[in-house]
Amino acid sequence: MRVHPRRAGDFVSGALDRAGALDRARALDAEDPLRELRTRFTMPHGTIYLNSNSLGPPPAEVTARVRETIESEWGTSLSAGWTARGWLDAPERLGDRIAPMIGAMPGEVLVADTTSVALAKLLGAALASRPERRIVVSSTDNFPSDLYAAAHAVNRVGAGLRVVDRSDLPSALDEDVAVCCLSQVDFRTGALLDLPGLTSAAHAAGALVLWDLCHSVGVVPVECQTNRVDLAVGCTYKYVSAGPGAPSFLYVRHDLQETLENPIPGWLGHQDPFRFDLEWEAAPGIRKFLTSTPPVLGLSALESALDVFTGVAIEDVRTKSMALGSLFVDILGAADVPGLELASPASAHERGAQVSLRHPRASELLQSAARRGVVGDLRPPALCRFGLSPLALSYEEVFLGADAVVEAARSLR
Ligand SMILES: Cc1ncc(COP(=O)(O)O)c(C=O)c1O
Repeated sequence: MRVHPRRAGDFVSGALDRAGALDRARALDAEDPLRELRTRFTMPHGTIYLNSNSLGPPPAEVTARVRETIESEWGTSLSAGWTARGWLDAPERLGDRIAPMIGAMPGEVLVADTTSVALAKLLGAALASRPERRIVVSSTDNFPSDLYAAAHAVNRVGAGLRVVDRSDLPSALDEDVAVCCLSQVDFRTGALLDLPGLTSAAHAAGALVLWDLCHSVGVVPVECQTNRVDLAVGCTYKYVSAGPGAPSFLYVRHDLQETLENPIPGWLGHQDPFRFDLEWEAAPGIRKFLTSTPPVLGLSALESALDVFTGVAIEDVRTKSMALGSLFVDILGAADVPGLELASPASAHERGAQVSLRHPRASELLQSAARRGVVGDLRPPALCRFGLSPLALSYEEVFLGADAVVEAARSLR
């Protein structure tokens, strides 16, 4: 396998033979401070699940929690549940639980909508707050849905979208730019963008930044406050494991909440929804970005998934995440299968929690891996993505996953 030169600081260096890799994996499991968390996730027997970049696996307690919400809350409180069971407050309550995971303060995060809708809202709000600046900047490797939302947001107000190669971002930031909208982790390659550097470059040009944290939350420390991030969105169905279609979150820094307006105002972002006024009056703080009725069952699954993170230090998660990725890369590198290339940065410091491989027969490779019990996913035509959840995987499972991918690739020759 062709890889880029390795940087100092990686966890596992040098070529590993199979036995050496297995020993290494077992030794890492024995020292792993997060190892007990693996038992909180359920997966079909015999499956090595390496697809948390798409959808995280279910924590076992989510099932019980959702059933309890249906039976003991909805089933007994009925409509009184909106206040008696705290359903109406859940978007802010759960936002406050996500806040420390992205380095934000209480009152800066709201759980609502889906990522694309939340992003469209914040872009609309940011553009409206900067009428003298008419450009949104993004990168060609951003998630397509973000680019669709950005194109729509600029078209609505007669502004323009400047989509450039990632390496050209610093020079694309000038005095016309209202917002720079980027994903912290490249969804194709897992490459980690320089969030602190790009945030300061945007600020130096007088622009706001809006980060998509879908592939960061729960695995990569973000530090929104420290880096003075203005706006962010993210989903909870990948590394947070809150379930298929789980609600997203949006972050608006405290000092911007007064001036930014929700471009899709709805009754639940009203100061007093139950007055049923004809005129919309924004609720104070982050709540004004709420539009609609909270999805209570999805929020209940999210609350339970967040319990898995209680007492877990994001630094430990990142350390394990980098080590899992390095183990996976080293096993594939040592196997040296013709046609198989590393599409992610070789250094764990430059990746999120995902390792991507390039192979001319990527689809067949993944099918062959699936027959061996390993789940990854395809980005056609040639990319195989493997998202390694540090909470839901042991090192030994990652060893077995990488070993099966090697066998699968060899079987295609
Ligand atoms: C980086 C990124 N942004 C946005 C989205 C879209 O999210 P949603 O379906 O919640 O709108 C995804 C979906 O996987 C994603 O990976």
